[in-house]
Amino acid sequence: MEYKIKTIGVLTSGGDAPGMNAAIRAVTRTAIYNGIRVKAIYRGYKGLISGEIKEFNTQDVSGIIQRGGTILKTARCPEFRTTEGRALAYQTIQREEIDALVVIGGDGTFTGARYLAQEYNIPIVGLPGTIDNDLWGTDSTIGYDTAVNTIMDAVDKIRDTASSHERVFFVEVMGRDAGFLALNSAIAAGAEAAIIPERRTAEEQLIEYIGNGFRKSKNSSIVIVAENPEIGGAQGMADKLKELHPEYDVRVSILGHMQRGGSPTAYDRILASRMGVAAINALLEEQRSIMIGIANDEIVYVPFNKAIKDDKDVHQDKVEVLQILSI
Ligand code: F6P
Repeated sequence: MEYKIKTIGVLTSGGDAPGMNAAIRAVTRTAIYNGIRVKAIYRGYKGLISGEIKEFNTQDVSGIIQRGGTILKTARCPEFRTTEGRALAYQTIQREEIDALVVIGGDGTFTGARYLAQEYNIPIVGLPGTIDNDLWGTDSTIGYDTAVNTIMDAVDKIRDTASSHERVFFVEVMGRDAGFLALNSAIAAGAEAAIIPERRTAEEQLIEYIGNGFRKSKNSSIVIVAENPEIGGAQGMADKLKELHPEYDVRVSILGHMQRGGSPTAYDRILASRMGVAAINALLEEQRSIMIGIANDEIVYVPFNKAIKDDKDVHQDKVEVLQILSI
């Protein structure tokens, strides 16, 4: 039987990330360029279950490359984790005559995609869309560069007040279980330390930071803390420092969801555009159950199970860079 994709469905799922719109635009236009129809699915897997679908033409994705968020909306969908939920999603796929899916999101999105692909034999290609950069097999995820820049801008501002008041600031950033945002924004903003889940316990990292004598050469200090409910995040670290050193004037700043918004950087727009084109090319090459990644500036195909399961570690050299430059 001839393998021919006539219609694809595209969706965004999980936490939004700047550059998702650029990816939707690239997927849509590349599909149409290759004579493939595009069905846009709203609200991620939720919309796939309920059938919230609209056919897109090239104009539907005009003027969106510079916009943060996702024009398709997004959701976290517990129902899709069940076999019943996925059966409903498959009914929509059949009814809409969708031959293949492009899903844009993070590990939750790919976990769901993997189940659906296995159960119903549907070709699915994923694009890594998450500010966390926690997917194995890609040097960067769509939205990560923008988020690092957003954090850097915020920390630059916090630095002004920290040095004026000679305070220690604990700045909490997102990242779920990963320290990429914390470590890289700490280097970019010239922070004194980053407390990340990949390196020993948070308390040990705090003790090390204190032991480095951060008050010897400086009167103010900024520590970036990767969000982590177990250690109470930045507040937990601040409380610990106050307990050990009541003489310090300590403040906490939790950056929160501002990290997910904003216009994507040039890097993220280009990455999303390349990956969007690559997703359709991969489907035309009969690839399935893979994530598009970028490694050494080349497009690579990463099987879903590797992208999700294999732990991507932060670069040890960056840990050293931060340590050396913060003396
Ligand atoms: O995965 C992206 C992310 O922004 C994480 O960094 C964060 O832990 C989580 O999503 C927050 O999710 P929500 O917006 O659903 O609270």
